[in-house]
Amino acid sequence: RGFFRWTWRLTYLSAIGGLAYLSYTIYAIRTPRDQFEPHPSKKTLVILGTGWGSVSLLKKLDTENYNVIVVSPRNFFLFTPLLPSCTTGTIEHRSIMEPVRSILRHKKATVKYYEADATKIDYEKKVVYINDDSDIKGETSSTEVPFDMLVVGVGAENATFGIQGVKENSCFLKEVGDAQKIRKRIMDCVESAGFKGQSPEERKRLLHMVVVGGGPTGIEFAGELQDFFEEDLRKWVPEITKDFHVTLVEAMDKVLPMFSKQLIDYTEKTFKEESITIRTNTQVKKVNEKTIEAEWKKADGTKEKESIPYGLLVWATGNAVRPVVKDLMNQIPAQKDSRRGLAVNEYLVVNGAENIWAVGDCAIANYAPTAQVASQEGAFLARMFNSLAKTETINTELATLSDKQSRELDKDKRTVILGEIKALQKSLRRVKQIGPFEYSHQGSLAYIGSERAVADVSWLSGNFASGGTLTYLFWKSAYLNMCFSSRNRVLVILDWTKAKLFGRDVSRE
Ligand code: FAD
Ligand code: NAI
Repeated sequence: RGFFRWTWRLTYLSAIGGLAYLSYTIYAIRTPRDQFEPHPSKKTLVILGTGWGSVSLLKKLDTENYNVIVVSPRNFFLFTPLLPSCTTGTIEHRSIMEPVRSILRHKKATVKYYEADATKIDYEKKVVYINDDSDIKGETSSTEVPFDMLVVGVGAENATFGIQGVKENSCFLKEVGDAQKIRKRIMDCVESAGFKGQSPEERKRLLHMVVVGGGPTGIEFAGELQDFFEEDLRKWVPEITKDFHVTLVEAMDKVLPMFSKQLIDYTEKTFKEESITIRTNTQVKKVNEKTIEAEWKKADGTKEKESIPYGLLVWATGNAVRPVVKDLMNQIPAQKDSRRGLAVNEYLVVNGAENIWAVGDCAIANYAPTAQVASQEGAFLARMFNSLAKTETINTELATLSDKQSRELDKDKRTVILGEIKALQKSLRRVKQIGPFEYSHQGSLAYIGSERAVADVSWLSGNFASGGTLTYLFWKSAYLNMCFSSRNRVLVILDWTKAKLFGRDVSRE
């Protein structure tokens, strides 16, 4: 009896403790403290972008040490790993967005934010030219921002390899707007297929959902789409059951090349069970309004051209360099051999440019362009900048003390000052101990549909590969844990619960 009484008391106390913690977290989120302006003599640090790299830097940066200015056309951080779930309404897009304003408002010292695109970086003049490209503009919509230090974290754009018709006819999957467009188009195809008098061929075309690119973006989207069909569409629009079909087209001989062979085979087997067709060795050469033209390389090495009709086309063939980054690369002779982005050294300094750093997808540091890499790079820069600022402060204090010591006539006082100098020199050595950037790979995860996921996880200095429903639960908890804020976490859990209880919404908007 005593045992049960104690268990009950402990549960009661932890519930109260949990509630108090939650209330405090909510209070802290909703009540930002007053901020102060950094001294004008501090260096101006300009950060371009509000993605994984830049926001991870901002999160850990002591903003009182610099005059920080953030420039980005997107006034929110987007948790991209859950973006494929927004295309079918499993998750609502606002649940994975975090306003930049709230991120910046929680910093100790103020940070300026300009909603604009950086159109040109003049690295010699130390100026960034910015342009407000949003729908509503004031009298001034372009200007220049001088910097002492610059971090380029503008990410990458969608690769199209100059293939004709891609931009005009397909949907990408990088931004919130892309996910919204796809969600709308899926339902548009479904409703148009059911239009009175639609021919059987046209119904088939409209209900053919084609995904180009067998990387993780294409695979995760195809899995989500098939789930949507199996769990909701088939129920509410039964007449499409026979013709709805998802095809994934990949130029190489396998999908998910970054995963181990065992997981690639598992993904292909799962897709087969889910009735998703994978067309490997098939390279798309041209996109028309209603068909794609592809070249299929057969096992004997011969090639065959074919035309594949589609209703929805999602293009997920990886990254390309943004124009502003390309322009900067062209200005710097040391970047002439770089093709895929800004070549950086082990401290993420852009080769050939002083006081410019690059993080994330726009930087080439021999790592895959992933959120994991970008956020670790951002956090590394924050540590380095914090330490640089501390070093400068200590150096100034040291100079003052040395001067004081040289002018001091009293021997005892001189000894005291010398002690202070030694202590400062010691902390200077500690602060300066920042080694080069080292990436720590935590593993790769991808959702593949029907409540299954694949994971290649680094564990105890080895690699652990797994696929299935347990891995899906791991995938869910890992991404929930990685969400930007508690608010995001709560919203994502509510969305998952809502989709489970009531199904996904099949309205077109
Ligand atoms: P981004 O996060 O793309 O941010 C770039 C920022 O720069 C944006 O704020 C943008 O608005 C801004 N910007 C653009 N142009 C300009 C300009 N001219 N001037 C100023 N600002 C500009 N990686 C993983 O590790 N795990 C995953 O599960 C995963 N899932 C993904 C799912 C999808 C659908 C996608 C598309 C990607 C996924 N990734 C994942 C990859 C990951 O999202 C990227 O590697 C990561 O976003 C790169 O971070 P970044 O900061 O370099 O760029
Ligand atoms: P990707 O570069 O990983 O894959 C693109 C695929 O498209 C390649 O396999 C390529 O062979 C194929 N392709 C290119 N041109 C083609 C054509 N004309 N016809 C047919 N196929 C063609 O691109 P993705 O998936 O967009 O990912 C970009 C980055 O984001 C990667 O680094 C990836 O690791 C990361 N990412 C990670 C995720 C995760 O960890 N779960 C999820 C999504 C993205």
